[in-house]
Amino acid sequence: MQVMLLGLPGAGKGTQAERITQTFGIPHISTGDMFRAAIAAGTPLGLQVQSYLKSGRLVPDGVTIAVVRERLLEPDASRGFLLDGFPRTLPQAEALDALLNDLGKALDVVLYIHVPQEVLLARLTGRRVCKTCGATYHVHFQPPAVEGVCDKCQGELYQRPDDTEEAVSTRLEQYRQTEPLVRYYQERNLLRQVDGQRTIEDVWADVRGILEKIQR
Ligand code: AP5
Ligand code: MG
Ligand code: ZN
Repeated sequence: MQVMLLGLPGAGKGTQAERITQTFGIPHISTGDMFRAAIAAGTPLGLQVQSYLKSGRLVPDGVTIAVVRERLLEPDASRGFLLDGFPRTLPQAEALDALLNDLGKALDVVLYIHVPQEVLLARLTGRRVCKTCGATYHVHFQPPAVEGVCDKCQGELYQRPDDTEEAVSTRLEQYRQTEPLVRYYQERNLLRQVDGQRTIEDVWADVRGILEKIQR
């Protein structure tokens, strides 16, 4: 199963991705997570991208495409994958088409998690992420049992440096480059819109239903 998640920052891509990976067993490929891991490890890639992530601007296409190409060639991606946060520009979408074509693969579905922009600031500024396992929480909408501690691994929860009001407004501006992808995948009959302005469980019920049908 080859699945892609599309949606504004804070739409719930990472939150649904956790459930998809757990239920359907396909690897979660998040360019944002990969960049954050590189920054934390201080690799050359991390040094190259850190100022983009901190401010909320998009990393240049060439860098991003190279990272995804390498990741899709890893053995675990041969039986399927879940793309989260990639592609985000038309050149990235075109590069992905070419790459999948070379690999003899095709996307099964693009899940477009649709939310109005007004709900995003509250979602992003209240988000907390586990330092150890990457699980996502929210201080109001999805609180952990013990404040600041991950339910799954007891790791420490932190706030992403790009979840400040200033960086969020830059990320929303940058999303203009991603908007044309809705039409791009509509034209290819791959887009399925999901209403993301409901509870996490209600969104998940829709997402799971769509993927179960594809799997059959
Ligand atoms: P990335 O990490 O992809 O961030 P993003 O696109 O801004 O998306 P988010 O992770 O913020 O949102 P999400 O949809 O995953 O929401 P979540 O599920 O966590 O990218 C970060 C940066 O990396 C970019 O700014 C850029 O610099 C760079 N980058 C990455 N990919 C790139 C690319 N392809 N090209 C160039 N640059 C790239 O949910 C948010 C919060 O809301 C959580 O607290 C959650 O608990 C809560 N929540 C979720 N669902 C609900 C719900 N239904 N109801 C209530 N609360 C909810
Ligand atoms: Mg995310
Ligand atoms: Zn954890």
